[in-house]
Amino acid sequence: MQAATAVECPYAVRTLNGAADGLPLVIQTEHDRDPERLCAWVGAHHEWIEERLRTHGAVLFRGFDIDTAPTFERVARSIDDDLKNEYLGTSPRNGLTDYVFTASELPPFYPIPQHCEMSFIAQPPRRLFFCCLVPPAEGCGETPLADFRKVLHDVDPDVRRRFEQRGLRIVRNYSGPNGGGRFDLWKLKRWNEMFLTSDRSVVEAKCRAEGFEPSWTADGGLRLVSTQPITRMHPETGTPVWHNHVTTFHLSAAPGEYRRIYALRPTLRNWFFWQLARVLTVLQRRTKARDELAMHCTYRDGSEIPEADMEALRDVIWKHMVIIPWRRGDVVAIDNYAVSHGRLPYQGRREVAVCWA
Ligand SMILES: [Fe+2]
Repeated sequence: MQAATAVECPYAVRTLNGAADGLPLVIQTEHDRDPERLCAWVGAHHEWIEERLRTHGAVLFRGFDIDTAPTFERVARSIDDDLKNEYLGTSPRNGLTDYVFTASELPPFYPIPQHCEMSFIAQPPRRLFFCCLVPPAEGCGETPLADFRKVLHDVDPDVRRRFEQRGLRIVRNYSGPNGGGRFDLWKLKRWNEMFLTSDRSVVEAKCRAEGFEPSWTADGGLRLVSTQPITRMHPETGTPVWHNHVTTFHLSAAPGEYRRIYALRPTLRNWFFWQLARVLTVLQRRTKARDELAMHCTYRDGSEIPEADMEALRDVIWKHMVIIPWRRGDVVAIDNYAVSHGRLPYQGRREVAVCWA
């Protein structure tokens, strides 16, 4: 473990693979576990932290007594005080403070593919923070990270060209206020939970601001159609980054992820969920029209993305995935215009909180 050289640092600073730009940079304490002193130190070395975030894409703070949502919020605010609490994504979440939420209430068996947070809205968050309040059992439930700048660089040029030229069309179907549940194979969470209102005119205005095309379904649900480009430029460095939700929203997401999860962890349980995901995906494709699926992505003109392109993309993303077992009190700060995150399935207790700026 090497000490930081750029500034006087009371903590050990290293990367997991020893690379100068390795993901993530780890700032670990060996003696002083006080989160308030960490906040004071971060506040006094703000530029240094921001530079590390830009270079590495994520910084992991480890070994501190960060064991409640308010403490986590203070640590996140010491890095970026401009926290937001409007969430237009698909995961059901529970509020822990006004700005800290459970990361996802999706069932533990559901794998969350790599994505940059809310990449499909007009102004995605600049930074994302996770905190492990209760670590999962060993060998599951990690929040892997991937450098999406490197993914953009490494994705097959023909696959990339097809995506960039043809763009993405996203369809999402949310349950109505009285329908569905927080997890439903056929529909996303309730739209009034996402928009924090049951007033349709307020929802429609918000959709217009975000570039979503809303339509109300006969059962009281809400269908959102939107388009998004494949890449974005980093707002500070101008570096292009793979910045879209195709691997998360595409119908093939669950079987595509589980195939790789089973290769990583060849257990009977993972094989079972892989096969179940395959069967349910075929069932959905056969019983639902494209725009009635809970969520799906096509090219912008509505034509299907070749399965081989989706697989090639997943291979590149998985090649760049960094899987770090959670420890209690871990906080990871992520540059959301550089690095993606996801969730591997787990069993038993796991409490991971999130906030963003
Ligand atoms: Fe996310």
